[in-house]
Amino acid sequence: MRLYLLIGALMMTTAAHAQEKTDWKLVIHGGAGVIERDRLTAEQEKEIRAALDLALQTGSKILAAGGDSLDAVEATVKVLENDPHFNAGRGAVFTYDSTNEMDAAIMDGESRKAGSVAGITATKNPISLARAVMEDSPHVMLSGEGADQFSREQGLEQAPPEYFATPERRRQLEEMKSNKLSWFDVDLKYGTVGAVALDQAGHVAAATSTGGLTGKRWDRIGDSPIIGAGTYADVRACAVSATGAGEYFIRVGVAHEICARIRMKDAGAKEAADAVMAEVKALGGDGGVIVVTPEGEATWSFNTPGMYRGKASAEGRTVAIFGDE
Ligand code: GLY
Repeated sequence: MRLYLLIGALMMTTAAHAQEKTDWKLVIHGGAGVIERDRLTAEQEKEIRAALDLALQTGSKILAAGGDSLDAVEATVKVLENDPHFNAGRGAVFTYDSTNEMDAAIMDGESRKAGSVAGITATKNPISLARAVMEDSPHVMLSGEGADQFSREQGLEQAPPEYFATPERRRQLEEMKSNKLSWFDVDLKYGTVGAVALDQAGHVAAATSTGGLTGKRWDRIGDSPIIGAGTYADVRACAVSATGAGEYFIRVGVAHEICARIRMKDAGAKEAADAVMAEVKALGGDGGVIVVTPEGEATWSFNTPGMYRGKASAEGRTVAIFGDE
């Protein structure tokens, strides 16, 4: 009799533990902008949807196996950095001087440790360098040649300039220069990539990677590597990654502001994200955000015609491009 009671108690404890596991979530973006049906060929649309799905699959595998949200967002962003359709890693936009200078950031919501890099030129996966800054340096943010040197010292995979440079991005720079367009006028000018995740332990993390703006000059740095602007994670509230006109996202402190509204105003993730994106719009900026909370709310908000985006959970994966999807 006693044995039955013991087995019963053990079974109940095991069931309780199983219930304690959080349902994992993953949300990604690949940039927001004037992304409309007549601007993409069927082939391009198919390739982009496949690339987003591959990124979701990669992060999902880690989260479904009980892996860490930090590992999931890094692995997911690496897939997008390796794909030339997106403005990050290979396929990063060109600066005014025809170079590729990349920014990236990663943040762990549990410890609120963060790492970021700006204006780097030679690391194949900038997001992994951001993680190395977080884990293997006493700093949060490194830039330029110093960050490139740290990358070499850490033994991260390096790539030559021609790896990052693609003909389509060069064409966009030339179009911008010949039409005397401003940085904010170049079509599909964004394309920053990002991921936010909630793992089964209830931890959240965020990662963002970008080439910045086509034709950027004077060592311009956008919001992506600025902790609190383009990237933020806090297990008391949410994890956020942003894409869009970085200057406005820095001025609004978008990613931290969304988390602060959730934490202090008890706002839902969608409500907070919409309110903060409305602030960005009111200042004249455009773009979008992805958000996940420790309670499992996984959402996005954007004020552009489209945003490359996707969501995954134990229920499955979805990708979307246009605003009406
Ligand atoms: N949101 C990317 C940038 O402005 O650089």
